[in-house]
Amino acid sequence: MWWGKRQQSDSFKLSEHVVVLTGAGISAESGLSTFRDKGGLWEQFDIEDVATPEAWARNQAQVREFYNQRRRQVLEAAPNPGHQALVELERRCRVSVVTQNVDDLHERAGSGHVLHLHGSILEARSHVDPSEVIHLGERDLTPDWTCSYGYPLRPNVVWFGEPVPAMEEAATLVSRADHLLVVGSSLGVYPAASLVQFAQPGVPITVVDPDERMHLPGARVLRKPASEGVPEWVSRFKATFTI
Ligand code: APR
Repeated sequence: MWWGKRQQSDSFKLSEHVVVLTGAGISAESGLSTFRDKGGLWEQFDIEDVATPEAWARNQAQVREFYNQRRRQVLEAAPNPGHQALVELERRCRVSVVTQNVDDLHERAGSGHVLHLHGSILEARSHVDPSEVIHLGERDLTPDWTCSYGYPLRPNVVWFGEPVPAMEEAATLVSRADHLLVVGSSLGVYPAASLVQFAQPGVPITVVDPDERMHLPGARVLRKPASEGVPEWVSRFKATFTI
């Protein structure tokens, strides 16, 4: 059965809470590269050169250029039916999107509750005070942008080796989920990948990912791209949980 045992006893409630954990794969069909697929970003760039605090300390220009290029791509991209289906789901029940993505495609699609685990590529922040944040929008990050301490602003993203401040909130959301949907993540990066372990026993977990190698113990895997798999999941949810 699609929903497992819960389906037989539960009727649709407005309090039904779906938590959706998304990764780069949900934005792939919007034209944004994933990280670990063939030809992905980490084949083209060395993590040590562009995505660590040490890289920033060594070569700020190189790090800025990496994020400026990616920001321009994000600005040109548009949400796809995967993002849009999650907005449609919000009309039916409570939906919390927990994303590892630094793009804003969930927000532009219209999702109302989006928690960014790894920050936002559209923002820059002070290296000294993480709460000092500016919205870059269409502007490139240049050395001219400085914080109130006089240091150059850095991209407001979480780099390898840095803490993930939103983890506690994300874990609480997952622990309160009635359904967990994982879309387009290799679940290869911690601590984000550990979030699935916070789901309560018996909570149905579905993974949407076209890669044959993608497995998650206890989860059903829909081997489809997000633009097909997410709308399919949402229409089955709507058909199952009718008022
Ligand atoms: N629809 C759904 N999933 C897809 C699609 C698609 N059209 N195309 C690819 N995928 C899947 C891949 O099969 C893979 O499992 O998306 C996943 C992408 O995995 P990663 O590239 O590892 O991306 P992600 O899991 O988001 O990476 C996590 O790593 O480098 C960091 O900070 C970066 O947030 C990122 C984190």
